[in-house]
Amino acid sequence: MCGIVGFTNRKIQAAPVLLEGLSRLEYRGYDSAGIAVRDQDKDTVVVRAKGRLKILEEKTNSGLSVPGTCGIGHTRWATHGEPSETNAHPHVTEDMNVVGVHNGIIENFSELKDKLEKNGYTFYSQTDTEVAVKLVDYYYKKYQGGPIDALAKTMVRVRGSYALAIMFKDYPGEIYVARKDSPMIVGLGEDEAYVASDVPAILKYTRTVYYVENLEMARLEPGKATFYDLNGDEVKKDTVQIEWDAESAEKGGFEHFMMKEIHEQPVAIRDTMNSVLTPDGHIDLSSTGLTEEQIRNFKNVTIVACGSAWHVGMASQYVFEDLVRMPVRVELASEFRYRNPILGEGDLVIIISQSGETADSLAALREAKDLGATTLGIVNVVGSSIAREADHVFYTLAGPEIAVATTKAYSAQLIAMDILAMEFAYLRGKMDEKKLLCMTAEMRTLPDKIQQLIEDKERIQWFASKFANAQDVFFIGRGLDYAICLEGSLKMKEISYIHSEAYAAGELKHGTISLIEDGILVIGVMTQNDLYEKTLSNMVEVKSRGAYLAGITNYGHYEIEDTVNFNVYIPKTDPHFSATLAVIPLQLTGYYLAVARGLDVDKPRNLAKSVTVE
Ligand code: G6P
Repeated sequence: MCGIVGFTNRKIQAAPVLLEGLSRLEYRGYDSAGIAVRDQDKDTVVVRAKGRLKILEEKTNSGLSVPGTCGIGHTRWATHGEPSETNAHPHVTEDMNVVGVHNGIIENFSELKDKLEKNGYTFYSQTDTEVAVKLVDYYYKKYQGGPIDALAKTMVRVRGSYALAIMFKDYPGEIYVARKDSPMIVGLGEDEAYVASDVPAILKYTRTVYYVENLEMARLEPGKATFYDLNGDEVKKDTVQIEWDAESAEKGGFEHFMMKEIHEQPVAIRDTMNSVLTPDGHIDLSSTGLTEEQIRNFKNVTIVACGSAWHVGMASQYVFEDLVRMPVRVELASEFRYRNPILGEGDLVIIISQSGETADSLAALREAKDLGATTLGIVNVVGSSIAREADHVFYTLAGPEIAVATTKAYSAQLIAMDILAMEFAYLRGKMDEKKLLCMTAEMRTLPDKIQQLIEDKERIQWFASKFANAQDVFFIGRGLDYAICLEGSLKMKEISYIHSEAYAAGELKHGTISLIEDGILVIGVMTQNDLYEKTLSNMVEVKSRGAYLAGITNYGHYEIEDTVNFNVYIPKTDPHFSATLAVIPLQLTGYYLAVARGLDVDKPRNLAKSVTVE
């Protein structure tokens, strides 16, 4: 989704820093970009371009043609108004008194636009951002109370979510920011100040940051940031040191971030499990703040998430219910938040989110808290909104994930949920110590097993190359395997743009089988031994209607070769952990299909890494 970078200092040219910062946010997804730079007291220069950042770089001669030491930049992911140069940010008032960029959605923008039109403002774009910028200008001129006052008055009138970075004509060298429900950080360097929607944008320059809280504003000057609440009173806050190293946000020799991140999965899950497994094979969840007493007393578990994180929830439901014998519901955050959920004391609501900023997941978390449930975030990004607002947090230690299609964060989330299920089962008396130690020991073997699967990637590349022109692909499985199919299918469609569907194998005969024709690829996931034969029968049914079959099953089921055209064997493990292994060939299949089709693997069209609007 949209990205923001701002920079002010006294010596260095701002534009190249802004462009560099924006390039670090490209992975979030965008369709146009722009920068506004100011040279001392001179007028601000604004340059915008539709399409990739490199067009903006060409237009500005890599930033050199836009002199000045203070500026703001933006990558836009269209919401109000088509992707175009006119709708790209920054947006400005006619007299260039206010220049701003914005992430989020202003919900009452048309009402505010009417109000401004009555007061003589005209509009050149279709965006809600232009309305916000002009509203700031209106309050600034009407009340003459300065930038913070104008921003505060705007924040009171505006409904929706926003991260705003604004420059005022009367305040050269300064950037003003305001935030509600859209992430924003402020960074400090020696005689420098930065603002960004996401850490990678400024990681190259500073690790010392402040998190801007909801309904807070800030004034940035070289080397200094001052924070204010809605009343305009100063707020004191401490800086946080970002621990990521910049290298982990680089491709490190791989052609794409996605492939690099697929290879990082053994480390991601090892780090995540090591953060809570004790050397003697027990689980210690004290870092999450959850007590043993709480774990023993929860009555229900509801898992809420979006996208792949929701698929983790779907997989965990099988594991949790099987091991813990307690009811688990899995909900899409966008549905959950609007359906008046029945929750209260005794309920545990688990919000799974890589970014910790997904708008629907954050709203679901707040809803659950309001209803009196205990909330636990399974979050990858430290200090993100969900991490800060949830009652408890279990951090996945996957490191920064850049490719839009998640891989290592998904796997780390699966492990985190498996660990939770095991500890719940143990503390609630559904699993004895022997079984727990046996499962944690097995869990520790998973990184090597994943490594083994990754090393076999050339076979999958060969297989994927045969289907580069496929129109439709079907994934089938039962139980936990069905949950893995959901993720395999999503990986395929999001980056290779091939239509695919995941189907519970037993449901095939209720409709989907009519779509099977000669040569259609059907991928069956069969890691659950008790369901293996049933899914295999469904595979035979589609084969007799012409399908080309690929099967993923455990070592030992060698007879599968009589039925399927291509197969991948999964190292043997506890069936509750097989999702972690079976997803690897599915990720690789999606990846290699996208590569074979010549597509932009890391930045698929229309998608965003972090969906910060509804
Ligand atoms: C976007 C991403 C997905 C991700 C989903 C939820 O759609 O493209 O990869 O699964 O958001 O994101 P979250 O950050 O909450 O896990």
